[in-house]
Amino acid sequence: MNAVVPAPLIEADGLSISFNGSAVLSSVDFDVMAGEVHALVGENGAGKSSLMKMLGGLYTPDSGTIRVRGAPARLASVNDAIDAGIALIHQELNLVDTLSAVDNIFLGKEPRTRFGFPDRRAMRAAARGVLDQLGFRADPETLVGTLRVGEKQLVEIAKSLVADAKVLIMDEPTSALSDVETHALLTLTKRLRERGMGIVLISHRLGEVFAVADRVTVLRDGRRISTLPVAQVESSTALVSMMIGKDFAPPERAEDEAPRTRSTSIEVRDLTLWGPARAMVRDVSFSVLEGEVFGLSGLLGAGKTEVLEAIYGISAYAQEGSIAVAGRQRSFRSPDEAAEAGLAFVTEDRKKDGLVLDQSLEANFMLPSLPRVPGFPLYLRRRLCGRIAEQASASRVKHRSLAQAANSLSGGNQQKLIIGKWLMTRPRILLLDEPTRGVDVAAKAEIYRQILGAARAGVTVLIASSEIDELTLLCDRILVLCEGRAKRVLPRSDFSGDELVRLASP
Ligand SMILES: Nc1ncnc2c1ncn2[C@@H]1O[C@H](COP(=O)(O)OP(=O)(O)OP(=O)(O)O)[C@@H](O)[C@H]1O
Ligand SMILES: [Mg+2]
Repeated sequence: MNAVVPAPLIEADGLSISFNGSAVLSSVDFDVMAGEVHALVGENGAGKSSLMKMLGGLYTPDSGTIRVRGAPARLASVNDAIDAGIALIHQELNLVDTLSAVDNIFLGKEPRTRFGFPDRRAMRAAARGVLDQLGFRADPETLVGTLRVGEKQLVEIAKSLVADAKVLIMDEPTSALSDVETHALLTLTKRLRERGMGIVLISHRLGEVFAVADRVTVLRDGRRISTLPVAQVESSTALVSMMIGKDFAPPERAEDEAPRTRSTSIEVRDLTLWGPARAMVRDVSFSVLEGEVFGLSGLLGAGKTEVLEAIYGISAYAQEGSIAVAGRQRSFRSPDEAAEAGLAFVTEDRKKDGLVLDQSLEANFMLPSLPRVPGFPLYLRRRLCGRIAEQASASRVKHRSLAQAANSLSGGNQQKLIIGKWLMTRPRILLLDEPTRGVDVAAKAEIYRQILGAARAGVTVLIASSEIDELTLLCDRILVLCEGRAKRVLPRSDFSGDELVRLASP
């Protein structure tokens, strides 16, 4: 039904690239038509981002050619790509934290008044218009550094829309968005396609691929396995099987035996957190049992992260109410104190607090376990190294060596590293904030097995997630938050996607 006659906007032939002598992409073909959404899928480390970075002018291919609207193109820099009408929105966001959303959107291309000054009114109005389409609720004048990761993603998208790109490459744009926000973004994607834009969508949420993509390309270990119309793909399980090169069995949760009597692990009473303008969390109460997996559900800004931060003692807000851990009133003053009490926290923003990116995998795995190794004599270090090797393989971190730097891992593999290093500390209480953001379907299944295994061994798990499927698979109970208030706690027998969405909506 497209009014636009399909024509290739980009045609890449035989692109290859290697890093430190190891081939990351081997002779990959890829094209993008006007008026289509072309999905790119594959396991973590398959080479998706690297392929797109070649189209975005960030990586130079070792061999192969790229044509833009039929003419050979040399994309040696981001500016070359922008001039060619190609906008790449990174998986790891690239915004200036100390500038407002509006200023980020117009950075380097501010509209001017006739006196030559930046036209703030025009900028604010245009930014508001684009941000509204994306369902961004915060004030566009807010400093980007204070926004949540999902909101930052919307700012990135707004930025390339304003730059009037012909090809929009989105590398996991929805990974930090809730279902409602994702829906808004996908609707927008379809609208852009109708305008004749060519869109590349990288996503591990295969439901999205089926919902909006016209074609899909599967990469595995740096090779193109297949490019085909989405209508010809049988199911998402079939797609995962193509990605991993063998049959895939979706994860399941074994239903529990008769519930044991368990003691209360965490008790939150009347928690209120005062933000600068309003209460971020208001009168929230709940308790979690030992060995229970307890979910926090809600839209962006509903207060999920804020609740976890308060429990861990790193909330930036003035706090009222009480938090008890294992029957004792606690208010941790530092992450060390929380860790001492057996808590581990996997944060949502891996760029900010997850990893020491220029350090080795081994150092990163070791860091949170160090305080627990008194004196750190040599033989303990050796034992720790043994456990690191075990954990790296149990977490399926795709790596060449434990000495390689964390920033040389693909995005999803960095996330696996973060969860792994915390599991290694053998916590009694595990706080997880969007733990599988950017993780591929097969590796996710593995992380789920580890989380459920930890819970069966008695670990209390609190998990905040924007993915309803993730929560309904893992949790015993789910608390739905809406604008900082507790809406309801649903027991497993009452889980339903529709109900969760309904409760989360203001
Ligand atoms: N700058 C780099 N230096 C060294 N290795 C790199 C670099 N960029 C990518 N790689 C390696 O190339 C491989 C592919 O990485 P890439 O980021 O393209 O994967 P991906 O498919 O996007 O994965 P994910 O789903 O986790 O984002 C990985 O093994 C990664 O470690
Ligand atoms: Mg990637």
